[in-house]
Amino acid sequence: DGTGKLSGKTVLVTAGGTQENIDPVRYIGNRSSGKMGYSIAEAALKENARVILVSAPTSLDVPDGVEYVPVDSAEGMQEAVNSYYDTTDVVIMAAAVSDFRVANKAPQKIKKMETMTLELVKNPDILKGLGELKTHQLLVGFAAETEHVVEYGMDKVRRKNLDMLVANDVSKSNAGFNVDTNEGFFLYPNKEPKVMPNMQKSELARYIIGEVVELLASK
Ligand code: PMT
Repeated sequence: DGTGKLSGKTVLVTAGGTQENIDPVRYIGNRSSGKMGYSIAEAALKENARVILVSAPTSLDVPDGVEYVPVDSAEGMQEAVNSYYDTTDVVIMAAAVSDFRVANKAPQKIKKMETMTLELVKNPDILKGLGELKTHQLLVGFAAETEHVVEYGMDKVRRKNLDMLVANDVSKSNAGFNVDTNEGFFLYPNKEPKVMPNMQKSELARYIIGEVVELLASK
């Protein structure tokens, strides 16, 4: 209906944990459920944004109204994200992207053996690449930390050229991966951090979108 604080804006959200194939039936993955990213997509929809949800596999229902772009691996996610970047106003990277992939994927199912060694190679850092190519976009990252959350988070803000970072302490049992709640800090390149106490991911998502609205207004 044209109202909503993000009406006319395109918001791209990534969610879930990427999967790196070992052979046709096995993969390396992580414990991301996609809940954080899907909640953000829903909060952005409520403000009338055009929402592109680039998602690794999850067991969640796709929110009504998003443009859904399913991907598996980090490389697949990078290709999808990059293809929308020019026409996107806000990117929010809530996905847990695998830092490594298998060097030589087996074309057939690997047979049982006593020991086996997997060689891993580094994946591209999608968010860092976006930071380097940034023109008009507002770039929001996440940081999954287990210690020195603010210090390590601020390092990511600078290295990845971010406008905002949600640093969550994933060592806590009620925050981070695969739970309904989250907490942490909102970090910025040139503003004091904001402490976010423990709350439902849906509520944190609304705060994140609120910050995005303010940051866009002050750009
Ligand atoms: O999905 P849930 O179960 O709800 O859990 C939510 C979450 C814990 C996954 C989420 O809140 C979160 O913290 N996501 C980011 C996890 C992560 O990969 O953090 P990182 O510190 O490794 O990466 C920092 C940032 O760079 C992230 O925005 C990440 O998306 C991005 N990244 C990382 C590696 C890589 N190769 N490319 C990237 O773009």
